[in-house]
Amino acid sequence: MCGIIGALCDHNVQDELLGALRRMEYRGYDSAGICVLDGGSFQQAKAAGKLSNLQRELASHPLSGRIGIGHTRWATHGEPTIINAHPHISANVALVHNGIIENHHQLRVQLVAQGYCFVSQTDTEVLPHLLEEKIQQRELLDAWREMLSEIEGAYAIAAIIRSLPGSLWFARKGSPLLLGRGAHGVYVASDALALAGLADEVMYIDDHHWGRLTLEGVELYDLSGNPVELEWDPLPVTAHDAEKDGFPHYMLKEIHEQPAVLRRILRQYVKGDGEIVFEQASFLHEKPLPQRIVMIACGTSYHAALTARYWLERYLKIPVEVDIASEYRYRDPVIGQHTLLVALSQSGETADTLEVLRMFKRHTPGNDALALCNVPSSSLAREADGLIELFAGPEIGVASTKAYMAQLAVLALLTLFMARRAGAMPEERVAEHLAALERAATDMEALLADTAAVRQAAALFADVRGALYLGRGPCYPMALEGALKLKEISYLHAEGYAAGEMKHGPIALIDHLIPVVVIAPKQYHLEKVISNLHEVQARGARVILIVDLPEAGIATDAACVLRVPEGDYFSTPLLVCIPLQLLAYEVACMLGTDVDQPRNLAKSVTVE
Ligand code: AGP
Repeated sequence: MCGIIGALCDHNVQDELLGALRRMEYRGYDSAGICVLDGGSFQQAKAAGKLSNLQRELASHPLSGRIGIGHTRWATHGEPTIINAHPHISANVALVHNGIIENHHQLRVQLVAQGYCFVSQTDTEVLPHLLEEKIQQRELLDAWREMLSEIEGAYAIAAIIRSLPGSLWFARKGSPLLLGRGAHGVYVASDALALAGLADEVMYIDDHHWGRLTLEGVELYDLSGNPVELEWDPLPVTAHDAEKDGFPHYMLKEIHEQPAVLRRILRQYVKGDGEIVFEQASFLHEKPLPQRIVMIACGTSYHAALTARYWLERYLKIPVEVDIASEYRYRDPVIGQHTLLVALSQSGETADTLEVLRMFKRHTPGNDALALCNVPSSSLAREADGLIELFAGPEIGVASTKAYMAQLAVLALLTLFMARRAGAMPEERVAEHLAALERAATDMEALLADTAAVRQAAALFADVRGALYLGRGPCYPMALEGALKLKEISYLHAEGYAAGEMKHGPIALIDHLIPVVVIAPKQYHLEKVISNLHEVQARGARVILIVDLPEAGIATDAACVLRVPEGDYFSTPLLVCIPLQLLAYEVACMLGTDVDQPRNLAKSVTVE
């Protein structure tokens, strides 16, 4: 969601602010703005829409100053207009914010009564006015602390103050924020990628911490005003991470990275003798196995969890519950003891998933919480009792691809690890499954090298009304994911269904304008899926069949067949990812949408 950058440098900051905003474009936004402080006055530029609009504005009216803040806004309160774009300014304060100020209405009424004039419809605008009001009456540090104690909701804030051109101010509660320092300046940002090429070291700010950053150092406080210890880490990303490496889109680059990601995961977690070791989740090795597993996530990460439920229940014979984080947190779930929470998130900053983790730890402190996450510095990774890192590398395309495959891969390893510990799978079987996962990386390369059939399948989506995806067993959630991928980036309506459920309603949709993607690998109830295929074909549907057998062995007359190499119970879904992702990508390219930054979407949903 919103991207925040603040910079204090030994030179003009405009270009650095703009560059940082560009590296955060992937988070999703619909307007942007920059404000710098020079000679005691604020200068600002804002634009609705893409950053190129802001860049044009800056080209005709450049800003100059050595300290400034910038923001990409994903609208929540008020339309994505220039007026609502951040920064928001009061007489002495300019400020950018990510999150939602829940008591903004009461604060606005109070501030209007005190004579403050509001120009935007945003919740954020109360913040500079509230701080302005406080600094009229007290020392700056006290003013900040008092402002923070009066606001409710979630925030990451960066601010500059007119009378103090040498300090960047910041605060965090519930939305990610980090500080950076490099050879030519200091920075505050919502994303490490923003600081690529600028900072060498970063400091992750925890919830309820706030402070100020100068070229000389940092002052960091908790909500009571007590100083907090400072901890700098090396910047975990490089400028190269933000490049497309010759691919037309990040999404395509990331789809192609999957064989390397899978190999990295296997190298990381499977030792030479075939032992599976999760070093950052030692409790998995040391404590008794759980009697129940609860898996929580949103979107694509939720789909990965749904597939893993089939795997875990089959081998561990314990109940595995999977739920959407935004539902779980409000439904008074019965958690119980001896329960393992597995929270899955690419970003580790998804507000609902994080809140479930916190709720789980509050309610059943005796249980363990495991994060499956791609960003080891994220809030989820840091707050869980153990981490299985996804090692997918920065994922910039809004549509998750390689992180999804990585989640499936580590969940397959987690199942094998637990099944082995439970004595539920003989050693030879574990070794065979590990070998199949190894082979899958090479098979993925073969799939990525020949995409002609996928392009042919994509052509079937010209002038359609929508699409249906069908699968059974662990491939049913893959049908959900295939449909999500298509709707996210092509804006076509798509539904994923359990193939056996199709006759209970969705079959009414079927005609030649609704292509049906049937996922039918031989591992998962092939004959039954093929009967469902015949049922839709009999009603005029054009079928795109994803299969791992020679199509002659199945005898269908599908409009298009996408073959994947034969995998096993665990590796097959990893292989099926490739045609599903490529199909969505090719359809989106054919329809000319913005593949990497589809409309209305944010990469990391940091507000509920
Ligand atoms: C994936 O393509 C989506 N953009 C979205 O559903 C995403 O998976 C979801 O927001 C969860 O994100 P997370 O994995 O970072 O928690």
